[in-house]
Amino acid sequence: MTDKTVKFTTEGGDFTYPLLEGSVGPDVIDIRKLYGESGKFTYDPGFTSTASCQSAITYIDGDEGILLHRGFPIDQLAEQSSFMEVAYLLLHGDLPDADELHEFNYTITRHTMVHEQLATFFRGFRRDAHPMAIMCGVVGALSAFYHDSTDITDPQQRLIASHRLIAKMPTLAAMAFKYSIGQPFIFPKNDLSYTGNFLRMTFGVPAEPYEVNPIIERAMERIFILHADHEQNASTSTVRLAGSSGANPFACIAAGIACLWGPAHGGANEAALNMLREIGDVKRIPEYIARAKDKNDPFRLMGFGHRVYKNYDPRAKVMQQTAEEVLKELGKTDPVLDVAKELEHIALNDSYFIEKKLYPNVDFYSGVILNAIGFPTEMFTVLFAIARTVGWVAQWNEMISDPEQKIGRPRQLYVGATMRDYVQVADR
Ligand code: CMC
Repeated sequence: MTDKTVKFTTEGGDFTYPLLEGSVGPDVIDIRKLYGESGKFTYDPGFTSTASCQSAITYIDGDEGILLHRGFPIDQLAEQSSFMEVAYLLLHGDLPDADELHEFNYTITRHTMVHEQLATFFRGFRRDAHPMAIMCGVVGALSAFYHDSTDITDPQQRLIASHRLIAKMPTLAAMAFKYSIGQPFIFPKNDLSYTGNFLRMTFGVPAEPYEVNPIIERAMERIFILHADHEQNASTSTVRLAGSSGANPFACIAAGIACLWGPAHGGANEAALNMLREIGDVKRIPEYIARAKDKNDPFRLMGFGHRVYKNYDPRAKVMQQTAEEVLKELGKTDPVLDVAKELEHIALNDSYFIEKKLYPNVDFYSGVILNAIGFPTEMFTVLFAIARTVGWVAQWNEMISDPEQKIGRPRQLYVGATMRDYVQVADR
């Protein structure tokens, strides 16, 4: 805490509140006593000026386009680290040494299988169900299977639930994909990496051996690293809010998946590729730019803009580079990448986007890579969910071990009817 304070004057008098200082970033006015002392609430729909918690996991400087996990810049992690290492870092606060990493890998690998009974849940869905709908259901269903890791007051049980979630998400995601195309589920294979295993469970078939392509494996690792955490975004806040009541950890993550699905959040990667395909040709870009700027048209450039970044999203830079690399390595071309690059170029030179500080975000280029690898667009947000599970469980653990944590319970500015008497239906 600083010795700086903020004074607030209302008809009830003067009220003074402390300014809290983070390790980096803006100071925060501690208004916890505001209502008790002044009888006033604050109004902040969308939490644009509200810190909902304190956290030591991820830091974003939106003006400078900086993203740090436990202090480490995202581009360094994406270039040099592995997804398992980043998962350990987010959960435990520091990079693992070689033994710790080996043990963590071993533990996660040993939790990748799911209860055989879970397979029957998939069969209850229509084959054309969106895989995010399936994920909401089956991840929530995990809460009915693993009763030995649900005492959230026990750090060891929390850790086991976290390991289970990180380990089982790729298995469930691959099962959702296999179910949609009518192929048999593929069991996990313990000698593969987290990502290699997921690729095999997704694209392998029992009739043939599956060779993991190291270029694709590395690209997927990067995509997972880039999506691993992003401080108090909508889905993470959902997980925290659900968890704040003491709810079952698997159910909390299912709530996060539901939130992530929306096109303003994780669903934007699917929407962005669909949009780029719809544009189809660089000649049509001006038409779409005009629509994005038209106040009477609900159309937005998907994969553009961010609540926190008012500069280039550092994840989008790595993503664009990875898209070029993957296409080159696979010997593929994709006209959609040309459309994306030209759209970015035109938008970044347009006064509307300059003034509103709208830049490409993580979802703008990811679809090009995922498409080249062979994922259908409906799977894009599922891949985001696999990666973000690491952030969700890290944030959920941090919240539960925070002594200042309380059940999340926002207040409101009530604008409805004032008290009135009930009228019998015949008299209305
Ligand atoms: N295209 C056109 N105009 C936009 C866009 C866009 N993509 N994004 C924001 N604007 C305009 C918006 O119309 C508003 O204009 P005005 O001030 O004249 O009303 C202004 O910019 C501010 O927008 P906002 O909606 O008030 O900002 P927000 O912080 O509430 O929304 C956002 C952030 C990400 C939801 C929004 O930029 C958006 O809808 N982007 C497209 C969807 C997308 O790519 N989402 C992925 C976000 S990153 C990954 C993730 O979180 O999962």
